Order: sequence, then structure tokens, then C-alpha cells
Amino acid sequence: MYLTPEEEKMLKGEFGLGVQKAMEILCAIGDIYDAKRLIPIKSAQVSGASYKTIGDAGIDFIRDFSNKCKVSVLTTLNPLGMDVESWREHGISEKFAKKQIEILDSYVKMGIEPTATCTPYFVGNLPSLGEHIAWGESSAVSYSNSVLGARTNREGGPSALASAIVGKTPEYGLHIDENRRAGLVIEVDFENMLDNKKSDDRLILDFATLGAFVGKIVGNKIPYFRGIKGEKEVLKDNLKSLGAAMAASGAVALYHVEGVTPEYKNAIVDKVEKIHVGKEELEKTREKLNTYNTDNGKHGKPELITLGCPHCSIQELRLIADTLTKLGKHRKRDKEVELWVCTARQLKNIAHEEVKIISRYGKVVCDTCMVVAPIEEKYKITGTNSAKAACYLPGLCSQKVVYNDTKSLLDMLFV
Ligand code: F3S
Repeated sequence: MYLTPEEEKMLKGEFGLGVQKAMEILCAIGDIYDAKRLIPIKSAQVSGASYKTIGDAGIDFIRDFSNKCKVSVLTTLNPLGMDVESWREHGISEKFAKKQIEILDSYVKMGIEPTATCTPYFVGNLPSLGEHIAWGESSAVSYSNSVLGARTNREGGPSALASAIVGKTPEYGLHIDENRRAGLVIEVDFENMLDNKKSDDRLILDFATLGAFVGKIVGNKIPYFRGIKGEKEVLKDNLKSLGAAMAASGAVALYHVEGVTPEYKNAIVDKVEKIHVGKEELEKTREKLNTYNTDNGKHGKPELITLGCPHCSIQELRLIADTLTKLGKHRKRDKEVELWVCTARQLKNIAHEEVKIISRYGKVVCDTCMVVAPIEEKYKITGTNSAKAACYLPGLCSQKVVYNDTKSLLDMLFV
């Protein structure tokens, strides 16, 4: 990989040991992927922030960097293993909390914004069309590439951090025009399969299920969806769920939606294979993601219902608050079932009315989520409307999963 004279100096250690180490990481990646050069980035999103997922080795790695250097571009942080304000209420141990705070402090010492969310685009890290960025967190990568039209590869924690420090990333993969073209057309029968007359909460589930199905079949191709429509803000939340699911069941980092996403016009090339996805595929995928059959409550309920994977937008908080208000009017709360609604702290701080309503029935949880918090220490059966969470909860949190739409899940909070 070609290095400028300044980059050569960085690699030789003339900008300090931390920058040198970061350059070594970027050069190794650049060589593996045959990148020609490094290109400047506008921002970074660093994943690998939960003590549960990175452990003591991760703490040492981050502490070492924090003692040596700072980031040089806007850098936001992925969710931690706990809500930093109410971890005691969630049964987190003192030992876990101490380690988690140490990780957070190290990141902050480097100049990273302690956003602790997987939706950095809701809290000030909003890249524009065509901007190069280096983001970790597969759902945020998918959203930024596809919905915003920014350009990032699917970075790991160390490579995103190295890019944040150097302010550059190797130019390969999704940073290059030709690599952003579609490889498979997915024809969606939107009117019948994803019935746009259905309620918004039901649509979120259908988009997530569609994503879980497509992620499995698409391999390393970029999917191009035909037939998806919707009202702008609702559609954005649905695409957030679709992309997160494809990134979890497969490794999709970019997709296009005809007439909707910013790059769809240049995405299609001749002779791209087409497949039609129907109701049957969706139903089968949904059955697979649902590993605990409650039989409408006859066989028990989840102990914990979690919404907000990826973290809820303001519109989603409003939808949840409205649904709870309607359901809770004449019914008693079932104290055996807990509710977590995960969102970014910055959104919690402005959505006063929604937070007030949701807090009557459950917890608005920030800085963390149902997958990266150690929920397995307290719960065995979890309800979710997220296909990404449904993919990860069995393996990473030893959970049985009730996979259903928002309203059906919230209904289980009441007797
Ligand atoms: Fe975000 Fe956690 Fe889901 S990091 S995308 S809420 S698994």
C-alpha cells in the first residue's frame, strides 16, 4: 500500500507509539485486501465496548491505546454491557460494573464520545452521501452504507479504533464504486407479503423477518430490493430492522431499495439474478427465529420483553408508548414479565412524554442492549421484535426466544 511521507513517519513511530500501532493495524488490513492507499474518513464508530464481549484482554488492549494517543476524527461508541446510571437496578454485579467503567473511561480518555449506542446516526454522527467513514457495529454499517449512502467496510473494534486514531482507512471494498453494485434482485410482493396496510409495529417485524431470510441466501452479494414502499420516517425504521437482520443472519453491509435508498439508480447491472420472496419464506423464517412457543400465553410468557434492537428511534418510542397506553387502560400489569426498551441516552433525554409513559410499565434502558448486557444471569426466556436479537440471543445469552411484533409482545405485560 502506498503511504504518504506523513504516513511513513506515523508508521515509524514519529507521532508516538499509539499512532504507530494504529498504523500497523491499518497497513496489515490494507495489505490483506490489496488497498492502494489510505483515504481520509469523516467519522468512526467503535464497537467492542461491552465487558461481556471483550473481557479482560479487551480492557488491556484499550487501556494501552488510551495511555498513548487520542482519536483524530469524530468517534462514537457502541453499547456497553450496562446502563451506566441504573446498572444496580438491573442486577449487574459490582465487579462487572467496575470493569465496564474502566473500559468507558479509557475510550473517553482517547476523546471518543460516550454515546454508547448502535444508532450513532440519531445522536450526531450522521454521515452524508458519499462520505468515507470507518464504522464497526454491523447494523450501523448497514444503515450508513444503504440508507445514508456513506461508505464503510464492516470494521471490527480494533480496525475502527485504528482508523479513528489515524483519521484514515484503507481504500478497498465498499469504499470503491464498482463494489457497491447489486448482485441479487429480491422481488418483494409488498402488498401481500409485507402488507402496508398493517400496523407499523407489525411491519417492523415483517421487515426484520425478510432481512433474516435474505441475509441467509444472499452470500457475499449485495441485495437490491424491488417493491418496497412506505411513508418516509416509518420506512427508515423498517430499513433499520431489515439491515440489522441481514447483517446478523448473513454478512450484508450494503443493500439497495428501488426508489428509496440514495444509490439505487447506479446499483443495478445487467443480468443480475432475481428471486421472488413470498409469504411462505417469511413464515418459515419467523418460525425458526421463534424458539419458544407460548401458544398465546397458554405455555407461559417470556420473563423479559426487549424492544430496541437496533436502539429505538423517537418514532419507535412513540409507537411503544401509544401501544402501552391503549393496552394498559383497563388491564392489570403482570409483574412476572419485565420490559426493557433500549434507546440512546440522548434520545431518552429528549423524549420526555414517551419515557414517562414507558416507565410506568417497564424500563427505558440506555448505554446497552439485550444482547451485550449479561441478561443470562437473570433471565432464560426473552421476547423480541428484532430478528438480529433473535439470531444472537440463543448463542450469546443462552435465551429461548419469543419472536413477535411489538403489540403482541407488549400485550404479554398484562393479565
Ligand atoms: Fe444494537 Fe445490541 Fe441490537 S448493539 S443492533 S441493540 S444487538
